[in-house]
Amino acid sequence: MNQLAVLTSGGDAPGMNASLRAIVRSANNKKINVYGVFNGFEGLIDDHLSELKPRQVGNIIQRGGSILHTSRSKRFLNKKFRDQARENLLKRNINSLIVIGGEGSLKGAKYLGQEGEINVLGLPATIDRDLPFVGPTIGFDTAINTALQAIDRIRDTASTSNTVHIIEVMGRACGWISLFAGIGGGAEAVILPEFPTDIEKLAQQIKEQRSSGKQGCILIVSEGACNSSGGEGLIKDLNKVSNFDLRITKLGHIQRGGNPSAVDRVLASRLGANAVEGLLAGHNQCVVAQPKDKIEMIPFTKLSGNLNSEMRDYHELIFKLV
Ligand code: F6P
Repeated sequence: MNQLAVLTSGGDAPGMNASLRAIVRSANNKKINVYGVFNGFEGLIDDHLSELKPRQVGNIIQRGGSILHTSRSKRFLNKKFRDQARENLLKRNINSLIVIGGEGSLKGAKYLGQEGEINVLGLPATIDRDLPFVGPTIGFDTAINTALQAIDRIRDTASTSNTVHIIEVMGRACGWISLFAGIGGGAEAVILPEFPTDIEKLAQQIKEQRSSGKQGCILIVSEGACNSSGGEGLIKDLNKVSNFDLRITKLGHIQRGGNPSAVDRVLASRLGANAVEGLLAGHNQCVVAQPKDKIEMIPFTKLSGNLNSEMRDYHELIFKLV
């Protein structure tokens, strides 16, 4: 492999630029040319590619969005257009592609990979974290931090004026954003698409908390909860069984923008560099991921030794990305 292409696709996520930088720089260190595809799969179909040099990805690690832009391509679901996209890669002698995106984008990557001739790897990048097995996705941590800033502010006014606030977060049909924002923001409840909510019980709990002296109440609701009607749906449901003075805030696209957090920059950099190494090692039709998310009990007696082995990968990464 001496050439590869990279694209960003779907809903943008903070950290996409950091992964792009990592791909271009680590490929350059391995003497591999990188082509950036503009506008996701749409650009791949329309032959909108240009070579990306390491200095062109300078000063982007801290920027939200994607300098390559994204699209949600309906055409790419049609084999005719995927064939056209493949031709555009092959005519430049590119037989490897890295797709940075979420669920729909990785589906597109899967179809292209299955049809042969192009080795395809995916980097999971979506604020939704809606991919099973892959663990944290690029952009999720930043989105949570952004949501928490808003929730903390709403908490100030909720506890001062003793009101019940409904805060709707993104995530499509997935409740991870609600869960993390809810735990981190100390919410009184989270309402998710995945699990049913007993509205009467919820209203009763809120009443009891208020009569016990709790000031203010924050309910986090996923946009996909309450039969996909999110916060508006929750208001309707609560109004049927209670008469709380409700307020609603939809955080919306604020959650998608902004500078990536430290966690997202490091995740994106590691996954980007590993994608290049993965292609070189012959991996194909895989998502490059860091999935572990388990609590462990580690005996005190094991807390000896140094951290060098844990730090080695990170230390090496610094030099690959200059
Ligand atoms: O997939 C990311 C996401 O932000 C979802 O949380 C949300 O439902 C959707 O994209 C919004 O998409 P768009 O910006 O295309 O309306």
